[in-house]
Amino acid sequence: MERPALRDLFSADPARTDMMSMRLEIAGEGEAGGEGGLSSGMLIDWSKTHLDEAALVAFEDLAEASGFAAAREALFNGGIVNPTEGRAATHGAMRGSGTPAQVEEAEALLARMGMLVEAIHEGALGEIKHCIHIGIGGSALGPALAIDALTRDLALVDVHVVSNIDGLALEQAFAKCDPATTLIAVASKTFTTIETMTNAQSALKWLGENGVSDPGGRVVALTAAPEKAVEWGVDETRVLPFPESVGGRYSLWSSIGFPVALAVGMEDFAAMLAGAKAVDDHFRTAEGRANAPLMAAFVDQYYTRLVGCQTRAVFAYDERLALLPDYLQQLEMESNGKGVKADGSALDGPTAPITWGGVGTDAQHAVFQLLHQGTHIIPVDFIASIAPGDALDPAHHRNLLMNCLAQGAALMAGKQADDPASSYPGDRPSTTILVDDLDAAMFGALIAFHEHRTFANAVLMGINPFDQFGVELGKQMAKAIDSGKGDFDPSTKALMKAAGLN
Ligand code: F6P
Repeated sequence: MERPALRDLFSADPARTDMMSMRLEIAGEGEAGGEGGLSSGMLIDWSKTHLDEAALVAFEDLAEASGFAAAREALFNGGIVNPTEGRAATHGAMRGSGTPAQVEEAEALLARMGMLVEAIHEGALGEIKHCIHIGIGGSALGPALAIDALTRDLALVDVHVVSNIDGLALEQAFAKCDPATTLIAVASKTFTTIETMTNAQSALKWLGENGVSDPGGRVVALTAAPEKAVEWGVDETRVLPFPESVGGRYSLWSSIGFPVALAVGMEDFAAMLAGAKAVDDHFRTAEGRANAPLMAAFVDQYYTRLVGCQTRAVFAYDERLALLPDYLQQLEMESNGKGVKADGSALDGPTAPITWGGVGTDAQHAVFQLLHQGTHIIPVDFIASIAPGDALDPAHHRNLLMNCLAQGAALMAGKQADDPASSYPGDRPSTTILVDDLDAAMFGALIAFHEHRTFANAVLMGINPFDQFGVELGKQMAKAIDSGKGDFDPSTKALMKAAGLN
């Protein structure tokens, strides 16, 4: 597709930077998150993308034709936005954005979680210094990211998130925890996931074999299937339910966030919810290009569906967000990596790009070569915090920010040299997200921004982002290998034999 050069877009419109940037206020005076009552915001600059006025108008028309406004209202109003499973998607209600009944239910559930968190902090289960949080996918990625992002200064409880069924993962957590002071959190929406249930069993065994007389008394269950947790043996008082209508990859705000609350305290957990709510309020009311998640989706759609980019990259210039690409991979690829629309009809082009990324500046010295001179066009998101996360010489943070901004500028500017190997084509797109400070509220805002961006992308493509049937076949085949009853191809049969699985 012919697209205007970024350089030309800037020279054609001196106001481009302002027109293509937006500041979202996340916390104002008196609200959670703004330190000392100061306001705290997020600046998003899309000016280094190729969208021009014509493209923006076309995408605004597409949003209208796709029924964006109605779909968005359905999301917040408990409408069936997950038609294949006949469900609403009520993660917003967990942070106060939903119908009054959903919000009331969410508040009651979180109040119960808060009481348990505080009781544990006060010693109700004995001295608890460590928590092994066992879950996988959406039951692990959000908590792992949030804990890594928000406990750099201080963790009230030392949490280790274990997901893989590879026993090495659990052994590694055991090595870092004292069984006498360790709590086990079993997180599973369904409470049937093989990895989680196997790890949970082994964790109980480890406690029992290491002097804990009542291992079951040290287990907390986080689930949308409380009856299954009770059946498995968790005392009802330590089962923290969440609604079935909260999807796994959207569940950080529910009791799946229990280890986050345990590590950062309920006050910061509430600030995280308040930051997400600020983005909900914006997403629910802003229109067209003035709606940040929708505008981000316009950019995603432009590069994926019109230019044909197969991947998008995210580089946080912040160690605290090192796990963000992992989290976004599930959020975006499990939500929108589909081949059919919500009505079952085939999609007429590419859907979710492959999300990947890393941290700056590390990635500059590893993969940026390809971004600058490779043959792929990869739209990049840069994310950085203006306030530093560290307390060392300010030179560290200044350098970090300088590098972040330099990369976006270099991707766009390129460089002509006599030697072709030293030439950079330039005109490569990037978006920069600069937050004032990465506190709990801003973290919540950043995650909610990406949730709504994913939803907006889905609406523009007609996809149901809330189901994930594509993960089932592999699970069924693993069971068939286990039972020895499957009918497998010759290659798999040979591999099963080589691995000693038949
Ligand atoms: O297999 C994919 C998946 O269903 C994800 O959608 C989900 O987040 C993960 O497994 C874990 O599921 P559960 O929370 O039910 O254990």
